[in-house]
Amino acid sequence: MIIAPSLLASDFGKFAKETIRASKAKADWLHLDIMDGHFVPNISFGPEVVRVLRRETKMTFDVHLMCSNPEILLEPFAKAGADLITIHAELGDRVPQLLWKIRSLGVKVGLAVNPPTGIANAEPYLSQIDLLLVMTVNPGFGGQPFIQEMLPKIQQAAAWRRERGLNFRIEVDGGINQTTAVECARAGADTFVSGTALFGQRQLGRAISKMRQAVTRAAAGQ
Ligand code: DX5
Ligand code: ZN
Repeated sequence: MIIAPSLLASDFGKFAKETIRASKAKADWLHLDIMDGHFVPNISFGPEVVRVLRRETKMTFDVHLMCSNPEILLEPFAKAGADLITIHAELGDRVPQLLWKIRSLGVKVGLAVNPPTGIANAEPYLSQIDLLLVMTVNPGFGGQPFIQEMLPKIQQAAAWRRERGLNFRIEVDGGINQTTAVECARAGADTFVSGTALFGQRQLGRAISKMRQAVTRAAAGQ
């Protein structure tokens, strides 16, 4: 089970400090939300921020591109130190080329599906990806409530993975807290992005280990 705190919910004036805090709290990955003000109605930060944070930790950098034109961003983020780059299925027929390009940069490959988008849109690519991101809120902002209706998508993705003997990770992102993480784990998720519910905690290490324990138990059917 992977717990990935989302830097979007940290103090924007203290990114380096917050990255070190997540690393010391034994987060498995750091989730970095890149918003371009076009694909989503918000702007976050770019490759230069990722590059300077790369010096602070060896943690896996999970870069989530909520961007209309990722073609021009893949190389800059790979060079900045991304370990995994996720693009969105909503980009349609540009998806295959983008997945190939990420792979060719030596970075792990992720594909995300927004709440209104059917999981069938990701299905043709399952053998080509390392991670499938099922968005559990409409992307753009942290702190939104979890959309329950996304649970069947997680179940479907887990069924495809099992039936086809594939091993992509199933990541959930948006409104993930101790309770909703457990629901997602029961549905088949194994990678949990959580912003507000983790960075908002004084004792981040405790919150992360509590979530890891809860989802591990849930996945084991306990
Ligand atoms: C939403 C982002 C998320 C966000 C999650 O657009 O993709 O990664 O940081 O934040 P919470 O956990 O607060 O919903
Ligand atoms: Zn995200």
